[in-house]
Amino acid sequence: MDGQQSKHERRVRYKGTHPKSFKEKYKELQPDKYADDIVKIIQKGNTPAGMHRSICVNEILQFLNVQPGQKGLDATLGYGGHSSELLKCLDGKGHLYATDVDPIELPRTRERLAEYGYGPEILTIKHLNFSEIDQVVLESGPLNFVLADLGVSSMQIDNPDRGFSFKTEGPLDLRLNPDKGISAAERIKSISKEALQGMLFENSDEPNAEIIARAIVAQRRKGHGITTTTELKAVIADALKFLPIGTREQEIKKACQRCFQALRIDVNSEFEVLYAFLEKLPTSLASGGRVAILTFHSGEDRLVKKSFKNFLREGQYSEIASEPIRPTVEECATNSRARSAKLRWAIKA
Ligand SMILES: C[S@@+](CC[C@H](N)C(=O)[O-])C[C@H]1O[C@@H](n2cnc3c(N)ncnc32)[C@H](O)[C@@H]1O
Repeated sequence: MDGQQSKHERRVRYKGTHPKSFKEKYKELQPDKYADDIVKIIQKGNTPAGMHRSICVNEILQFLNVQPGQKGLDATLGYGGHSSELLKCLDGKGHLYATDVDPIELPRTRERLAEYGYGPEILTIKHLNFSEIDQVVLESGPLNFVLADLGVSSMQIDNPDRGFSFKTEGPLDLRLNPDKGISAAERIKSISKEALQGMLFENSDEPNAEIIARAIVAQRRKGHGITTTTELKAVIADALKFLPIGTREQEIKKACQRCFQALRIDVNSEFEVLYAFLEKLPTSLASGGRVAILTFHSGEDRLVKKSFKNFLREGQYSEIASEPIRPTVEECATNSRARSAKLRWAIKA
């Protein structure tokens, strides 16, 4: 059960008219109860706290062309926005499987979808990495459609306890599944300067990778650990104080975005699991089955493009997207998180 809704916990109230902290946004955290407020927030182009606005919904539905009676997989359940739309297309017939690695948001989404009337007869939710799609297929049989909407959800980014954002103080964790692997703080505790530099450059094209890696290792040598999001931000800002004053603040923000992204990709092995998923896709799909993948990072998009092309050449796919589909200008204007999205698709031969 969601701790923020616990009867025994006193609700944190707004301190003023412009609440800043995640936990103070109690209206946004209860969208069913405060529907009018949620609509107003979305109309302003913002994403309410604790919610995720699904991207490219129309484009995805148009391509997947889901029909009642089909079996499919939403490999990245998240808030369940895409899943709800796919379930509407099934119209009570067929089955949707959904996976997510996040043990914190998954039960909340399961509960939300159950409240909408989507129970186990139509929807099976598994706490599973999509790299293990073959485990789903063992149960489901060949799939008619698969969707993957990569990366992180707004709920994960906005929750300071998860450590995904440099904008708020929190533990430097960045794991999609905090019960598995090591946190980003642990990772930078022992990594060599060279490996850290390589990670920042390879994963996020950080132009100042060497300078930032050197600063992180120097901070460590002084005996100061980097255990929180704001501590890492401070080290990055200090390392980049040689930048011209006019653009410094903006450049530091971009460097923080890139460094946090690089660490997130690393601690969650994001490229490795995506590769495993892509390799297993053709054998997971039924003949004529459709897959749509939404990426937010050029490295991910390259992997998807390459895999689709290879399997097209091998005759496993009959058709693939020649160019990625981009969200509309209107969607980008009302949801800044859509701006870097690219949608690619393939059809099983
Ligand atoms: C962008 S969100 C998906 C939002 C969802 N499409 C919606 O409409 O609400 C990405 C989700 O994928 C999950 N995820 C990321 N990598 C994963 C993986 N390898 N296996 C399973 N889930 C993953 C994240 O935990 C997150 O919940």
